[in-house]
Amino acid sequence: MNRKPITAVVLGASGRGKLYGDYSLEHPDELKIIGIAELVELRRTMYGDKYGVPAENRLATWEEMLSRPKFADAVIIATPDHLHYAPCMKALDLGYDILLEKPIAQPLEQCQTLVDYAREKGRIVCLTHVLRYSPYFLKLKEMIDTKRIGELVSIQHFEPVDHIHMSHSYVRGSWHDSVKSTPLILAKSSHDLDILYWLIGKPCRKVAAFGSLSHFRADQAPAGAPARCTDGCPVEASCPFSALKIYYRDRTWLYVFDLPTEESKQGEAILNYLRTTNYGRCVYHCQNDQPDHYVTSMEFEGGVTVNFSVEALTSYSGRRTRIMGTRGDIVGDMESFTLTDFATGEQSVYDSKALDALNYEGVGHGGGDAGMIRDWIEAIRTQDASVMTTPLDASLESHRMAFAAEQSRKEEKIVFL
Ligand SMILES: NC(=O)c1ccc[n+]([C@@H]2O[C@H](COP(=O)([O-])OP(=O)(O)OC[C@H]3O[C@@H](n4cnc5c(N)ncnc54)[C@H](O)[C@@H]3O)[C@@H](O)[C@H]2O)c1
Repeated sequence: MNRKPITAVVLGASGRGKLYGDYSLEHPDELKIIGIAELVELRRTMYGDKYGVPAENRLATWEEMLSRPKFADAVIIATPDHLHYAPCMKALDLGYDILLEKPIAQPLEQCQTLVDYAREKGRIVCLTHVLRYSPYFLKLKEMIDTKRIGELVSIQHFEPVDHIHMSHSYVRGSWHDSVKSTPLILAKSSHDLDILYWLIGKPCRKVAAFGSLSHFRADQAPAGAPARCTDGCPVEASCPFSALKIYYRDRTWLYVFDLPTEESKQGEAILNYLRTTNYGRCVYHCQNDQPDHYVTSMEFEGGVTVNFSVEALTSYSGRRTRIMGTRGDIVGDMESFTLTDFATGEQSVYDSKALDALNYEGVGHGGGDAGMIRDWIEAIRTQDASVMTTPLDASLESHRMAFAAEQSRKEEKIVFL
């Protein structure tokens, strides 16, 4: 069917901003990007050129973009965590529908204020809790809702971050400071808390959390380790977290750098970033504060219990989940899950790739991103927020759980919600 695309202005032209740009190229009948606000000129130009943004709508800051009268159907907010609340409130004032990257805001009070304001303004606001749209988690939910394992009793959920991912994002990178960005349990795990709330279908009532930063600290630094890996570190060659190894030799996690297109010039550009940005700093000297192991126990209304672990020091990533019911259980790893029926002993295996093939569109998060964008566009077209799998009110619940966990961990007490 030939339909007019939704027009959108994007704030932030980095990883997430580009994902929406790519979607617009793949689905020109659904989404058209007609404005970009991005501080870094090179990113702004590349974004504008690639996604066909008119020159007059390529601006440096979100403030400039939203000082103009409304000229698109929607705003996509893909700026860093500390720049979610202000642009979102302003975009609501202007009457835009919004796709807001998680988290909603930094302090819980602002999250609540924003959710209330979106309701008052009657706008469509979708928070990007994309896992709800991945075929794997949709199938898990179907198994619970149709009582395939009887009554739900408890869940063990495990999020292995991977040690290099931890060093990149939460030791050196954008989230190394939990106050300037957001605490790990929100930044990394609001997806997980949201999924748990969604699977259980009832609110969390009690939270007790434990965890600390054990490894990525100055007192754990090898003898003689300098401030930067590029400063002639004596243990660089054997350090798993060497920035020279990760970024320069292995050429991984490079998406944070604006590199020249000519391959011959990239090496020197990477070295320059390692000499001048946080990504070249020794992981033991980063003034970081995010915990590298974090355990949260929760009790939900009705008595369902959850143990949730976030672990930095793993060699692998990919969420693992064990779900216990009165008539059966489920063991899954995001690739596949096995459901065992206690009465018959019969085992059913659900393979993620086969599930993805049914509605996968090649965007990240196990197909979740594409499903989420489609849902949001449909909500805007129909002006009906109820078609979205993630209503903003529900997204707030995961944030309340995250802040409660952080309070429990820091104040060493059970927090009642
Ligand atoms: N939904 C998810 O699964 C998911 C995954 C990754 C990241 N995120 C969230 O998405 C957001 C963006 O993530 P990212 O990895 O693209 O971040 P990023 O920090 O790489 O990109 C943010 C971009 O915003 C630009 N920017 C900064 N200040 C600006 C301003 N005043 N006006 C205009 N542009 C400005 C920066 O230059 C940068 O290019 C973050 O809040 C992050 O937590 C969500």
